[in-house]
Formats: sequence, structure tokens, C-alpha cells
Amino acid sequence: MSDQGPFYHRDRSWHPPAFTPQYKTSVLRSPRYPLLSLDNTISEMTGPVFSHDAIGPLDNDLIRNYARTGEPIGPRIVVYGRVLDENARPVPGALLEFWQANAGGRYRHRKESYLAPLDPNFGGCGRTITDQEGRYWFRTIKPGPYPWPNGVNDWRPAHIHFSVFGHAFAQRLITQMYFEGDPMIWQCPIVSTIPDKAAVEQLIAALDRNNAIPMDALAYKFDIVLRGRRSTPFENRMEGN
Ligand SMILES: [Fe+2]
Repeated sequence: MSDQGPFYHRDRSWHPPAFTPQYKTSVLRSPRYPLLSLDNTISEMTGPVFSHDAIGPLDNDLIRNYARTGEPIGPRIVVYGRVLDENARPVPGALLEFWQANAGGRYRHRKESYLAPLDPNFGGCGRTITDQEGRYWFRTIKPGPYPWPNGVNDWRPAHIHFSVFGHAFAQRLITQMYFEGDPMIWQCPIVSTIPDKAAVEQLIAALDRNNAIPMDALAYKFDIVLRGRRSTPFENRMEGN
């Protein structure tokens, strides 16, 4: 199969539309004019390229990368999975960045307005790069849910934000990961902008007892699929020809 060629178009029936009034912020953020379709440029198809040298030793350990006086409060978890493309091929060397609220649902951000306290030992940001099989792994504290100003009493389910660079800017993906078994997922105005229930389920990390660390951390498995390239199909010869 060839690795060259343009990327698949994004499937608009799988991703949420830009204009979704129940998610109020989308009203001003969504485009007012029809989108123009442009061909991929060389720079979109070939860059960026990240080196493992760019990553610090604690970048994938949110339990320790901001610790000041001790370890942060909250349930300790491991999040791991693979980054694949639409042809189910692993994406090695993909930069993953993640950010989240602390166990009380509070972000370390100057515009944060929720009254839950900051944790002096938790920053809430990390990053890592996938290995040759497209695998990634990081350690953190399970974030708490938090209220946000949308409708009356709208709360976000516990979630971790992800930014993923693949082999190319055309593969860039920004998404959120949710946690298996959380009833608030199905009440969230942002989640409900996603039209297909199966697409929502793809954002829910599975609780994986087999990869938990005994007396230490639960594990959640979250695989990520980036846009794939259109590739030359194999020619299957009919039997007997
Ligand atoms: Fe958030």
C-alpha cells in the first residue's frame, strides 16, 4: 500500500456540526458562510515532525510534574491506548498533549471561575509521543466534573482534553476523553452535539482492570483514530485465475 496521496475528507456525519445552539458558545464560534474546500498543501501533508528528545522525563506523569509539597489529591489513574489512522495503521511519533481539571473539577487557569479549590500539587497538563506501534501512556489524577455557564445547572462530565498531531497538520485532532460508566456523559450539551451515539462511545475510555497497577492506579484505555491517507488497494486475484 502506498503512504502517499491525499487524506480522506472528514466525515461530517460522524463529527459534530459547528453550529449547535444548545451549546451556546458554538453560536458565535461557528462560520457564517459556507466552507470552501481546498486541496492539501505539501506542508499540511508532510509536517510537523517531533522528536522524542523534545519530551521531558515527567511530561507524561501529571501526578509528579507539578508536585510541590507532596502528591496531588484524587484517584490515581493510568490512561493508555494507540493512535491509529483510518486504515487501522499505527501512527508512530504522534505528539499528544492533554490537559484537565483536578480531582475537584478545578482548572489551573486564570479565567477559571468555579469555586472548587486548586490543588497545590497538580498542574493538569502533560504530553507524550507515540512509540513505533502507535502506543502512548500517561499517569494522572482522575478529573472531577464541573459546572459551566450554559443552561441552568449544566455540568461537564469528567473528561481529559487531547490535542493530537499525527504525521501531518492535516491529521490534527482536538478531542475529549470521557470515563466509562459516567451518567453525566449523556446529559452534557457539548457531548450531545455529536449526532451518532457510536461516535460518542468512541470518546469513552474503557475501565481496564487488567492494566491497573495493584494498590496504586486504575487504568483506562483510549484509542484515537486520525485521518488516514487514501492508499492504493491490493488487487485480490480470484481463486483459480
Ligand atoms: Fe474541560
